Amino acid sequence: MPKSIKPAGSIPVANLENASIETLAVRAGQVRSHELEHSEAMFLTSSFVYNSAEEAAARFSGEESGNIYARFTNPTVAMFEQRIAAMEGGERAVASASGMAAIMSTCYALLEQGDHIICSRSVFGTTNVLLEKFVVKFGVTVTFVDLTDYDQWNDALQENTRFLFLETPSNPLCEIADIPRIAEIAHRGKHPKNTLLIVDNCFCTPILQKPLSLGADLVVHSATKYLDGQGRCLGGVVIGSNEILEDIYGFLRSGGPTMSAFNAWVFLKGLETLDIRMKAHSQSALIVATWLEEQKDVEQVFYSGLPSHPQYELAKSQQEAGSGVLSFRVRGEKAAAWRFINATEIISITANLGDTKSTITHPATTTHGRLSEEGRLRVGITDNLIRISVGLENVNDLIGDLQKGLRAI
Ligand SMILES: Cc1ncc(COP(=O)(O)O)c(C=O)c1O
Repeated sequence: MPKSIKPAGSIPVANLENASIETLAVRAGQVRSHELEHSEAMFLTSSFVYNSAEEAAARFSGEESGNIYARFTNPTVAMFEQRIAAMEGGERAVASASGMAAIMSTCYALLEQGDHIICSRSVFGTTNVLLEKFVVKFGVTVTFVDLTDYDQWNDALQENTRFLFLETPSNPLCEIADIPRIAEIAHRGKHPKNTLLIVDNCFCTPILQKPLSLGADLVVHSATKYLDGQGRCLGGVVIGSNEILEDIYGFLRSGGPTMSAFNAWVFLKGLETLDIRMKAHSQSALIVATWLEEQKDVEQVFYSGLPSHPQYELAKSQQEAGSGVLSFRVRGEKAAAWRFINATEIISITANLGDTKSTITHPATTTHGRLSEEGRLRVGITDNLIRISVGLENVNDLIGDLQKGLRAI
């Protein structure tokens, strides 16, 4: 007699047609098990069972759909994927073990020997290293271009260009790329499988910017940042069309850098408060950036929400607000920047960003330390540059802490 095993995770919760992003962030993707839990269930299991050998065979052959093994599918991970896909306006999302795993899996799935890619110089340092040192090993060539120089993007396009990759706002200098304009350049590409634009939407999240609606083909995230928002878990996700995501999913289930159910559950809870957090982070960051601009020992402030930002109008046209990350140059050299950082007491010295806790970083010797000095200077990462991710503490307390930094210079 087959054992009677009820399929869990089979009751979709809400009809969300036409729902706004705040509602999607709380409700999209939720599937309730037969226990009728209110909060999403965490399925901490590496494999799934079958009523019979026949059913197992049907699942494995693909004749019957359903869970097999958590490297392939997991109901908690699936809820996270569906929620973030709905929020970004994509058909499908595939979650990964980290933001870098999302970028690596995209490369593995899309690229073939002989392909070419174009990448902004102003990307997270590890993205740069991944492309320049590892992806090229498989016979792929990479051209790096200045994020805001559209002639460079255009001139770099080749018959074999598979994708263009950028971050906007960029890390750490908050430069803004005109997404529709670069999408238009990408879509002039002649790659037999199409030339795509991929946008790392880590700084803004779908609450402040939706690259797919601006012409991008894929969005990637380090969920480690704002999607969690509380500095607890590593994760990543790629969002886009069913067709492209099927290939990326194919790589992930074979290559293995999938997201754990525990982390997916944390990210589901993170998404529920993303809207209010992003608004609060942006509001405080604007106050901090405006204050920093008035300080005589601060040479320059980089924040896309500041009217003095050279691309303020462009930022306003594609972002709802500036996000929580800003950077600035102090007067002096590296020693002055380090004295500033060391004098802060509330703000944490750490390389992460997008946390409720404010963080302070010296990009030249941490996040971008593996770039050559020439490479760093080319994208404006000087030794006196400091990056802050403004958290949810009281903004006056943060300004008081930054005042200690300024006094120490
Ligand atoms: C913009 C951006 N993209 C990707 C990543 C990589 O994400 P993870 O650390 O989750 O691998 C980071 C990490 O800091 C980042 O800042």
